Amino acid sequence: MTATTLDRSTIVPFLARVFVERGAEEYLGEPVTIAEHMLQGAMLAEKEEAGDELVSAALLHDIGHFTGAFGTYSSEDTVDRHHDEEGARLLAPFFPPLIVQCVRLHVAAKRYLCATDPSYFAKLSSASVHTLSLQGGPMDAQEVAAFRLNPFHREAVKVRLWDEEGKRPGVRTPPFAHYAPMLQRVIDRHMKECV
Ligand SMILES: [Fe+2]
Repeated sequence: MTATTLDRSTIVPFLARVFVERGAEEYLGEPVTIAEHMLQGAMLAEKEEAGDELVSAALLHDIGHFTGAFGTYSSEDTVDRHHDEEGARLLAPFFPPLIVQCVRLHVAAKRYLCATDPSYFAKLSSASVHTLSLQGGPMDAQEVAAFRLNPFHREAVKVRLWDEEGKRPGVRTPPFAHYAPMLQRVIDRHMKECV
């Protein structure tokens, strides 16, 4: 199964396979694997009773690391691999705009928070500081204003904060299977609305 042949009944099994087959990979030099990282984000969102769409966004925000044409991140990288855009492209045919935009904006949200919240930069891991430099650094005033015009910018900031928090080694989370029915429900609801 490739990303180009997916439909509404195969996208969730595809995502499950990505978590199982690729999820144990190192996550940008962080002390957690990439699957642990995304599952921690989803669990944090779920604990805050953020709702199905935000939990889904937290769960899938880094999926583009696996599906991008430019390969996965390495700490030796000197250019950005645009996993935000790649993830949004994968999800856009199936998921509602809130989820797609949160995935697309989660890097922009980091740049936004660095520009607008003096305490936020201190929360970044060293790997995240490295990628920040590849991603354009903190936003300037014009970029901040443009970011605020996106109707989902507040949700993207929430996903970003769970992203930052979800890098703790040894934290137990539910498995991907716990979230699979929720993902299918979100897809089915959205695609029914689109018909
Ligand atoms: Fe992340």
